[in-house]
Amino acid sequence: MKKKSEVGYRLRGPDGLEMDLPIRSSTIGPDVIDIAKLYREQGVFTYDPGFVSTGSCESDITFIDGEKGILMYRGYPVEQLASHSSFIEVSYLLLYGELPTAEELDNFDSNIRGHTKISEGMLSFLNGFRCDAHPMAMLSAVVGSMSAYYHEEMDASKKEHRDIFSYRILAKLPTIAAAAYRLNSGQSFVYPRSNLSYCENLLHMLFAAPDEYYEINPIASEALDLLFILHADHEQNCSTSTVRMAGSSGANPYSAIAAGITALWGPAHGGANEAVLNMLEEIGDVSQIGKYVEKAKDKNDPFRLMGFGHRVYKNFDPRATIIREMCYKVLEKLDQKDTPLFDLARELEQVALSDDYFREKNLYPNVDFYSGIIYRALGIPSSMFTVMFALGRSVGWTAHWREMITDPRGKIARPRQLYKGPSARDYKLISER
Ligand code: CMC
Repeated sequence: MKKKSEVGYRLRGPDGLEMDLPIRSSTIGPDVIDIAKLYREQGVFTYDPGFVSTGSCESDITFIDGEKGILMYRGYPVEQLASHSSFIEVSYLLLYGELPTAEELDNFDSNIRGHTKISEGMLSFLNGFRCDAHPMAMLSAVVGSMSAYYHEEMDASKKEHRDIFSYRILAKLPTIAAAAYRLNSGQSFVYPRSNLSYCENLLHMLFAAPDEYYEINPIASEALDLLFILHADHEQNCSTSTVRMAGSSGANPYSAIAAGITALWGPAHGGANEAVLNMLEEIGDVSQIGKYVEKAKDKNDPFRLMGFGHRVYKNFDPRATIIREMCYKVLEKLDQKDTPLFDLARELEQVALSDDYFREKNLYPNVDFYSGIIYRALGIPSSMFTVMFALGRSVGWTAHWREMITDPRGKIARPRQLYKGPSARDYKLISER
């Protein structure tokens, strides 16, 4: 690759053939080299495992600068949204591109509240799972089943269908998540209440007993609302790219969201918050921290410090900075500041931050390091942590699906490969092998 010129980048092949690759400018952040015609004109593909240098689409939704620790939704810094907005308002912003007026927000909120119920059939489907089924497995399956319930009302070319799809995803996922939790804990299902806010309703469905008044702790709903804002979108991460890719074939979007949920589940992605708590429990005591930090540094040991490092953020994760503060606030208010688990987390953070290995590789606590501690303090079991992440991220997936499906240049996502298998050979009869 030669230097950037007015025309773009000049590519010179081994046979001396040259090609100018156009540059496409971003609003902020790095420009991209447009290689769309590369194969047609040069007969070669690019190779980029894990897509570390590849832009898969054009997007107006979220901007991240990993070096400076910047995250913005539709241009608004996440710190400002975290301080002044609510998850419902941020959802509107992500879906429609602008902050709502008071009337627009009110209508949007009513629409979400009006779609929180799930059909009894969906509930029966969920009740068919074993009571020890992982809630992420149940969430992806039941969200996938929504494609069976709402297939007829899902013509992606109609704005009203895209809107109802968005409301249903936002409104019904908490109900499904809470039902999965209740099944796991052997308790009966609690129906949603439309007079409660988004996070209050979720807490009510998770924890209310059928025979008693359940008082919602304001710090619990405040913390959840903040966590959902911070998880709401993160541009082309693994699960969002999965939703875009599955949806690019024109598949029913509820199944595309279900695919995103399964991608989120992995421990390298949203599953890390559950893995952080499991890791802290495995470490068990501050006296064991040194041993586990050494394990994480050992190339021959697969163990990694969960909740540390990020593909994009190389200095700090701005979400982690905000969540860390909320983590202290929640533990203080709930009188859990001096629990052994939190002591252990604090000490591990300090040891890792002052260790040369983690400093040199720019491995800082990420969003998942603190979110699990907050969920634990709120009484949410670790198997539900990634489900909570999915509830926040559901609006990001939905916004990306909407952007992808309405993009006039949209194409089915179909990467190529570097084939390294055998070259052509003749079939041998089984008797001759
Ligand atoms: N503990 C120990 N070493 C690590 C860690 C860690 N948590 N993370 C990265 N490294 C090392 C890694 O071994 C590699 O070393 P070397 O250069 O010697 O081969 C170097 O740091 C770069 O790591 P990488 O795996 O090439 O980086 P990546 O960008 O592909 O991976 C990551 C990013 C988040 C998958 C990784 O840091 C990781 O596995 N972290 C733990 C899991 C985790 O907390 N995930 C949540 C991510 S934030 C939530 C979300 O967005 O989903």
